[in-house]
Amino acid sequence: MAYVYDSGLEGIEELAAEAAARFAGVNGLDMTVFPSVVALENDIVGRAARLLGGDTETAGTFTSGGTESCLLAVYTAREHARRTRGVEAPELVLPDTAHAAFHKAAALFGLKPVVVPTDPQTYKVRAGDIAAAITGNTALVVLSAPSYAHGVIDPVAEAAAEAARRGVLCHVDACIGGWYLGHLRLAADAPRLPPFDLSVAGVTSLSVDLHKYGYAAKGASVLLFRDAELRRHGWFAHASWPGYPVVNATLQGTKSAAPLAAAWAVLERIGTEGYVDLSRRVHLAAAALAEGVRGIEGLRVLGSPESSLIAVAADGPGIDPFVVADEMRGRGWYLQPQPAFGGSPANLHLTVTAAVAGEETVRQLLADLAEAVGAARALGPVEIDPELVAAAGLLDPDTLTSEEAALALGLAGVGEGGELPERMAPVLAVLQVLPPKLTERLLPELIGRLYT
Ligand SMILES: Cc1ncc(COP(=O)(O)O)c(C=O)c1O
Repeated sequence: MAYVYDSGLEGIEELAAEAAARFAGVNGLDMTVFPSVVALENDIVGRAARLLGGDTETAGTFTSGGTESCLLAVYTAREHARRTRGVEAPELVLPDTAHAAFHKAAALFGLKPVVVPTDPQTYKVRAGDIAAAITGNTALVVLSAPSYAHGVIDPVAEAAAEAARRGVLCHVDACIGGWYLGHLRLAADAPRLPPFDLSVAGVTSLSVDLHKYGYAAKGASVLLFRDAELRRHGWFAHASWPGYPVVNATLQGTKSAAPLAAAWAVLERIGTEGYVDLSRRVHLAAAALAEGVRGIEGLRVLGSPESSLIAVAADGPGIDPFVVADEMRGRGWYLQPQPAFGGSPANLHLTVTAAVAGEETVRQLLADLAEAVGAARALGPVEIDPELVAAAGLLDPDTLTSEEAALALGLAGVGEGGELPERMAPVLAVLQVLPPKLTERLLPELIGRLYT
């Protein structure tokens, strides 16, 4: 119920594989030598623009994924702010629910993240709080449609209006939900959805991943801009060297056209009607799943999901969601643990895709979940030694040595070897009570052991 997006349609994977194989050697580095990459990209960007509120001015770029789209949105805004407004100390205003990719962008491109807390009931940012966070140095405001963690849509119209009022760019991160929501609203029996796309006044860029609800092979996303004039600020051109003149629209230099060709083929094959149908099925399944979860004693759904993503938390102290995740894994399901953060308690994330949208699959998942909750209740929550937490709180992530990190991980139940424990609840329990900066120091140590 995470990471994998499967249309469940016959022949899609084979089609993507064949297209990718035929284009694996085509190099998107030089679009003047390989006109096919321009043709495919224009087709894909045009399709995304028509779906998501673009007009004849809309411009776009095909990227390798959501993270690259988010990185380029931020980089473009930074350059735009520097060149058009003389901003030298750029800031990035974003809700605390925005995807980690934006923090990566801020770190890579030297922007100061200005994090705006979201409403602890709805998990949406308030437009007034966004307005209050904007300064003369704000290069970009980011909103999610929907957010990954809770599947809710920020108040795009209201917040984008605040950004526009201050002359600031506004990016809608529709990486995960854009393709799904855009098609769902075309269904005859579509639910009411708030406006979230480029048609909203003040929205200046939008990212939408094809390797999620476009069911394309991995390595496919689109970044749309209100026009080519804005897009050009993110392109890198270099002529001051003795080699070929360089123009890069994305982060890579040489880039295989395989993901582009695979995405193009899958989009053509599934088509608008096909996506509307897949989105409807996902919508119905997600609604049934959320309803079913609410019916399981000891569980609750966080917020009111407006998309295909559901966050399931414990309703009361007796059940540890991470123990439920371990129990579900034993039953063949992967539910993604989301540690407690701010107003969001520890919970499990479920991404509903077409392949798991069948009635029988939903029924089976709910039955297994009810059983897993029973088992988790019997086992009880993971107990953490408060002295351990207190001691960990004294560690300084900036000066922590690898030996001390190993010691800290040992206390969390992770041995020196590369293998992760079968049951992750005890590890996650420790990680989520540590200060986030310390966790961020420990995670690379933990994952580094897998790569020998
Ligand atoms: C809202 C949102 N933005 C950005 C990303 C990053 O996308 P990717 O994992 O394709 O780099 C994701 C991934 O799930 C996402 O959900």
